[in-house]
Amino acid sequence: MYKITINGNKTLTGEIKISGSKNSAVALIPAAVLCDEEVTIANVPNISDIDALDDILNFLGAKVYRNEDIIKIDSKNITNRKIPKEIATKLRASYYFMGAMLSKFKRVEIYFPGGCSIGARPINLHLKGFEAMGAKVEENNNLFTITADELKGAKINLEFASVGATLNLMLAAVKAKGTTIISNAAKEPHIVNVATFLNNMGAKITGAGTSEIKIEGVDYLHSCFHEVVPDYIETGTYMILASIIGDKLKISNIIPDHVESLISKLEDVGAIMEIGVDFITISRPKKLKATNIKTQVYPGFPTDLQQPMATLLTQANGKSIINETIWENRFLNLKELNKMGATTDLLTNQKAVIIGPTKLTGKRIKATDLRGAASLLIAGLIASGTTVIENADYILRGYEDIVYKLTNVGADIKLEKEG
Ligand code: EPU
Repeated sequence: MYKITINGNKTLTGEIKISGSKNSAVALIPAAVLCDEEVTIANVPNISDIDALDDILNFLGAKVYRNEDIIKIDSKNITNRKIPKEIATKLRASYYFMGAMLSKFKRVEIYFPGGCSIGARPINLHLKGFEAMGAKVEENNNLFTITADELKGAKINLEFASVGATLNLMLAAVKAKGTTIISNAAKEPHIVNVATFLNNMGAKITGAGTSEIKIEGVDYLHSCFHEVVPDYIETGTYMILASIIGDKLKISNIIPDHVESLISKLEDVGAIMEIGVDFITISRPKKLKATNIKTQVYPGFPTDLQQPMATLLTQANGKSIINETIWENRFLNLKELNKMGATTDLLTNQKAVIIGPTKLTGKRIKATDLRGAASLLIAGLIASGTTVIENADYILRGYEDIVYKLTNVGADIKLEKEG
């Protein structure tokens, strides 16, 4: 396990360059196994979730070459083996091998995925969609065996605009016979990024980024080059940090449109922002104002930025309410923030109140999930004194070079192995 030690309360200035999107890259890599030739993906973040996917590719016998942000994947000769528990449960996104392997081999055996404990995280919508395409799903002690004599295009209406189900069904449909229509599809930027990747290989997908996606099955997918879209959650995390302790902190290599809902909230709290074509420069205001947050599917306020935003709201004047509508258990960071001096309380499992501003003081605290860890990291950076974050491995799942990036803009932060 790792720990992060921060000597806080330093103004941050300079530039932070944003990496490729975790949630896009973790779908693009499983998608690569669908290709009948080698693919090259650039701007891949160097984070532990990607290492875990690399392990699965190696286990299946793919030829993988990684150098800095480039990954080349040749899946021509992969074998359809049961993906074992130890590697399937390392991350959530292992479930994208369900759609990809089913599409390629008409059969997949894989364990229920892992990932942060932020709610029940069922995959019923993925499975229902596979069944609509003619697959048979069997489950035995968390081992899923999904088979099909033939995968056929189908009309699938998602009960909820699930990111995972939309992508998994898109993967399954790419080589299915006929046309699949996914309605009430998720619209997140990574849906568009993955559809573009598949289209670059010769897939026929239209409508990605809208609530109806149409996929005409094809037989062969060829080699291509593709770039991972900038990570709008990493972008947003640093934007929130800059709004509390930034002095002209420039966040570059971004797509400002992807963080529109956050920009609007940061305007409400009073952050001073200059928005460029591919950057945002942010300075803290004299006084932050309280606001209310309700998480929603894209383009609404992202659940993945709710926990970092909670830390900002501990510094805002007045009472803020957070309504988390996507996950049932995404407030574990609040208890740790309270240890540092914050005043937060749960109104229900999915609703919290934060009263600010409160002075935060460095403490030994524990991360319990990725974005919760980001929330605690921001707290450590703004607190007076020394903060030690245990279980810092969570943060390494999703934020590339975070210690380097923050040190570069003036933070006093260190990552060390513990235990
Ligand atoms: N849901 C179902 N059944 C399903 C699928 C989802 O009930 O079959 C429910 C979930 O329980 C949840 C809601 O639908 O209440 C949203 O789930 P979704 O499927 O959209 O989420 P996901 O695909 O499991 C991805 C990201 C999450 C991010 C969410 C929402 C990956 C690997 N994970 O999860 O990212 O919070 O979309 O945007 O892409 C993170 O990066 O920290 C993270 C948790």
